[in-house]
Amino acid sequence: MKLRTMLTMLGGTAAPTYVGAMRLLAPIHRAAWLAAAVKHGVLEAMRLGPRDLDELAEALDAGPQGRELLRAWLRHGCLLGEISEDGDRYRLTGRLAKHMADPAHAELAAFAEALVRIHVPAVYGALDHLRERRASDALDPALVARVAEMLAPALEEAILRQVPIETPTKLLELGAGSARHLRNAATQRPRLEAVGVELDEALVAQGRRELGRAGVSDRARLVQGDLRSLELEATFDVVTLFNLIYYFPPAERADVIARAARWVRPGGVLLLASSCRGGTLANNMMDLWFGSVRGAGPLPERDAVLEALRGAGLAPDAPERILPAEELYLFTARRPA
Ligand SMILES: C[S@@+](CC[C@H](N)C(=O)[O-])C[C@H]1O[C@@H](n2cnc3c(N)ncnc32)[C@H](O)[C@@H]1O
Repeated sequence: MKLRTMLTMLGGTAAPTYVGAMRLLAPIHRAAWLAAAVKHGVLEAMRLGPRDLDELAEALDAGPQGRELLRAWLRHGCLLGEISEDGDRYRLTGRLAKHMADPAHAELAAFAEALVRIHVPAVYGALDHLRERRASDALDPALVARVAEMLAPALEEAILRQVPIETPTKLLELGAGSARHLRNAATQRPRLEAVGVELDEALVAQGRRELGRAGVSDRARLVQGDLRSLELEATFDVVTLFNLIYYFPPAERADVIARAARWVRPGGVLLLASSCRGGTLANNMMDLWFGSVRGAGPLPERDAVLEALRGAGLAPDAPERILPAEELYLFTARRPA
């Protein structure tokens, strides 16, 4: 091929930009490859040691034609440096692959899946939604609950700060997801009684199993239902609304907060954690995504949350940032005694 032809293919004088654009390939392919490797248990299979093509094909139930596709897919992982071929066996080599294979880092694996299944469609699809006046139904509660685990340590700490070790205390978690916070709080605070409310039936079933496994089902229970219509007689010392407020359209949010506030006993506290408008790429993606989902809405303004808390008769402290330099806040609002 003539040099001139090659240069034309590479964008002529814009060649450096064309070459730069090719650098987009690797991170996008890496995220897609890792997400698939997690989803289909390939990383898990390799975690225990190198595996050959036959073993992986059997684990994935790949027929004779599927073997060649699998070989090409594994080669992709090698090109990305996440796995390597060692004789006729494949082993984990990349740092991401090794960590995602480890169940202790399950939320990292969920993040890779979310990049592919949530971030890319949210950024790519936002203008389609806008132009076609259509909303997306694409909220996978199980994946969202897995990703939400990334913030879990900060939220668990926020709950434990409000629950004394020796005093009997009652906790209500609205939108409890996988019930991780309930489980953790009940495990760490033996005098705590906790109730979680969760809309998604599959998450409720999973959460109940895990509360049982942790041996706390006698003090921590999950109720399936919509917090907007659920009747609960009791009031609680601590009520949480974590990563939830954008599941409701803006016009409903003050009512949701007022409803949550009614379950806070005098002197008790409402903890609300939410991404708010602005922030980094990840946070802004949430704005695009929830802004495109049917029945949900864009991220709230921080001041609108404060106003709704005050409107519900609570006295909010100054919001605390959960991550440095991110528009992700913990609001702590007390009901006067
Ligand atoms: C992002 S997850 C957060 C889970 C957990 N609070 C956390 O922070 O890790 C939000 C959860 O709220 C649940 N949810 C959404 N709308 C709800 C409603 N109207 N009533 C009860 N739960 C709801 C969703 O199914 C989802 O599991």
